[in-house]
Amino acid sequence: LPKLPAARLEKINVDSLRFVESVMPSPETEQTRKNFVDELQNVVNQTSVMWGCDAKLVPFGSSVNNFGAENSDLDICLVLMPSGARWPDAFFDDTPSEQLGAPPATKAVEDLAATLSENGFEDVDDSRKSARIPILQFRHGPMELECDICVDNRLAVRNTLLLRTYSLIDPRVRQLAYVVKTWAKRRKINNPAERTLSSYGYILMVIHYLQQLETPLLPPLQALPPTWAGEPIKTSLDGSNDADAGMDGDDLDEDGNGASDLPVVLVQSNSEGAQQDTYFFADPQSAYFSTPADMSTAMKRLSAFAARNKDSLADLLVGFFWTMALKFDWRRHVIGVRDAHLVTKESKASEDSWKLHQRMAIEDPFETSYDVAHVVRDREFRLIREEFVRAYALLAAASPRQEADSLDDVI
Ligand code: CTP
Ligand code: MG
Repeated sequence: LPKLPAARLEKINVDSLRFVESVMPSPETEQTRKNFVDELQNVVNQTSVMWGCDAKLVPFGSSVNNFGAENSDLDICLVLMPSGARWPDAFFDDTPSEQLGAPPATKAVEDLAATLSENGFEDVDDSRKSARIPILQFRHGPMELECDICVDNRLAVRNTLLLRTYSLIDPRVRQLAYVVKTWAKRRKINNPAERTLSSYGYILMVIHYLQQLETPLLPPLQALPPTWAGEPIKTSLDGSNDADAGMDGDDLDEDGNGASDLPVVLVQSNSEGAQQDTYFFADPQSAYFSTPADMSTAMKRLSAFAARNKDSLADLLVGFFWTMALKFDWRRHVIGVRDAHLVTKESKASEDSWKLHQRMAIEDPFETSYDVAHVVRDREFRLIREEFVRAYALLAAASPRQEADSLDDVI
């Protein structure tokens, strides 16, 4: 990465910190959203009495993962569980919904749509009730809030908690992700319906980048055992042999695949009904970190790990765009966050669900057979890469004719 003049970096740093400050939602917004979910829970309770099981609304996505802006939509998951079940234990109970006496997801969406309409909510739309992940959409007029409710998408709740945990490790994680998300929205490359990438995809890209730095800012949380005491972790971006990279010490298994005796936290996926391992270090729902003291020790270790990296937000921002524009080998590698070494496309091609192609591929942290970037085709991939190059060139003011004055010109 070419070194930029200190004054240029300083200007980018000041601009981006000021920018981040301006888009972060206020604590009041977060509280208002929480209150609204409570209010909605009452509406759900009116509906679930007909179902013979309990139903709990669990917010996920950007209102929980710490990467949300003031105007982000509200993503909510409806978790169906046995009557009287205890929370959060019931979350991990994988009794099939038919056995709970719960209605099929399509019917649950329909019933809920009816109750929401009766209660005066606007633009209630259940047309996606038969999608792979059934969704109910509506608007809360007074709060100008777009809401999506999906049924039993427990993996999304788990990956939200994973993202949230990453966001809490170091303030730079959230800051960098905010700039990247805003850039992607403004440059119109953040819309899966138009074959560009979801916000979720960009956040995974940011986490991957921070894990693969020469001095990593983030460790791979899924590869750390509950006993992790802060040992350093090797990455493989600096040209070393992929198979040799991984955690230091004894945690490598025979194939060099990282810790093999990690605990398992199973959650049922709703697409194929397969169980997924959703363990990660410092998980707030984990039995290993059940007391506030355990949790705080785990978070302190993670923050101390991050603090070894001294990069400013400006260094990271320039480095991110440079890496994605010019360094990352999109043809050969997959963006992933599960462990410290780079995943090759070749290794994924043995899995049925993955096809070898030259485009961007992003491995979902839990549902590893799922490519988060699968919607992105050749044309859009080229567009996104051009945007990476543009952002880097403007930040670095690489061409004298493209002198960039402020961050606003870049994003
Ligand atoms: N999600 C997922 N798989 C995807 C896309 C999304 O599991 N392919 C889940 C993730 O839990 C993610 C949530 O849906 O956190 C919301 O996704 P998205 O809207 O892309 O991200 P947000 O963080 O909500 O960003 P925005 O502020 O743009 O709404
Ligand atoms: Mg969202």
